[in-house]
Amino acid sequence: MKTPKLKKVLATGPTIYLRRPATKDCDEFIRLNRASIRFYRGITTAISTPQQFARYISRCQNDDFEGLLICLRNGNAIVGSINLSQVFRGVFQNAYLGYQVGARFAGRGYMTEALRLALRYAFDTMKLHRLEANIQPNNAASIALVKRAGFTKEGYSRRYLKIGGRWRDHERWAMLAEDWSEKDHHDEDTRYCFVTGRLCSRARGLEYFGLAGRRASYPAVHC
Ligand SMILES: CC(C)(COP(=O)(O)OP(=O)(O)OC[C@H]1O[C@@H](n2cnc3c(N)ncnc32)[C@H](O)[C@@H]1OP(=O)(O)O)[C@@H](O)C(=O)NCCC(=O)NCCS
Repeated sequence: MKTPKLKKVLATGPTIYLRRPATKDCDEFIRLNRASIRFYRGITTAISTPQQFARYISRCQNDDFEGLLICLRNGNAIVGSINLSQVFRGVFQNAYLGYQVGARFAGRGYMTEALRLALRYAFDTMKLHRLEANIQPNNAASIALVKRAGFTKEGYSRRYLKIGGRWRDHERWAMLAEDWSEKDHHDEDTRYCFVTGRLCSRARGLEYFGLAGRRASYPAVHC
C-alpha cells in the first residue's frame, strides 16, 4: 500500500541528517556506490544503475519500506544510506535494517550518528517494536556498530543470504523498542568530541562546539 510520505528531512544530528531520496539524487547516489564497489564486495549489492535507482524510489513510496539517505550538514553530500525493509505491522511491528556508507566516508563516525537517528525514527516515529540486522561474522565494522548502538546478538543463520553468487552465513542482531528507550536515555551522557569529530561516550567537559559557523546545542569536548 502507498501512503503519501510528505516530509523529506526526517532527523538531524551534529554532522549529518537523514532524508528521503528523490529522483534528482540518482547520479550522485550511483556515483557514490560505483566508487565503493570493492568496499562492498561480498557484503552488499548496492544500487549502481539508473534502473535500479528508479525501482528504489518506487519502493520508497511503499508503506513496507523506508529508504533514508545520510547527508552531510556541511555541503549536503550524500555519504550513505539506511533501509528499513519488510516493515511488518500487526502483532510483529518489525523491520529489517540495512546500511552502507560510501568507501571514502567510512570510519568517520557517520554511520554511528546516522544509526542513532534512524533508531529514534524507527521506534519513536514509526512506532516499531523490533529492528533486525543480519551481519556476516567477519564484518567487524558492522558488528562494532550494532554493538555500540545497543543491539543484542540473537543467533546465527547458516547460508542465510546469497551475496555475490554465494550463500553466506549471518549473525542475527536485534534491538527492541524497550532496549532503545533505556539506551537512548543513557546516551544523554554522550558528547561530541571536537578533536576526533565523533560522538563519544568517553568525552567529558562543558564547552560548546560551533558547526558550520553556528553555535550548536551539543556539549562538545575532547575525549
Ligand atoms: C559497516 C559500515 C556501515 C560502518 O560505517 P562507518 O561510518 O564506517 O562506521 P563508524 O565510523 O560510525 O563506526 C564503525 C566502527 O567500526 C570500527 N571499525 C571500522 N572498521 C573496522 C574493522 N575493519 N575492524 C574492526 N572494527 C572496525 C570503527 O573503529 C568504529 O568503531 P569505534 O568507534 O568503536 O572505533 C561501513 O563500514 C560500511 O558501509 N561497510 C560496507 C557495507 C556494510 O558492511 N553494510 C552492513 C552490512 S550488515
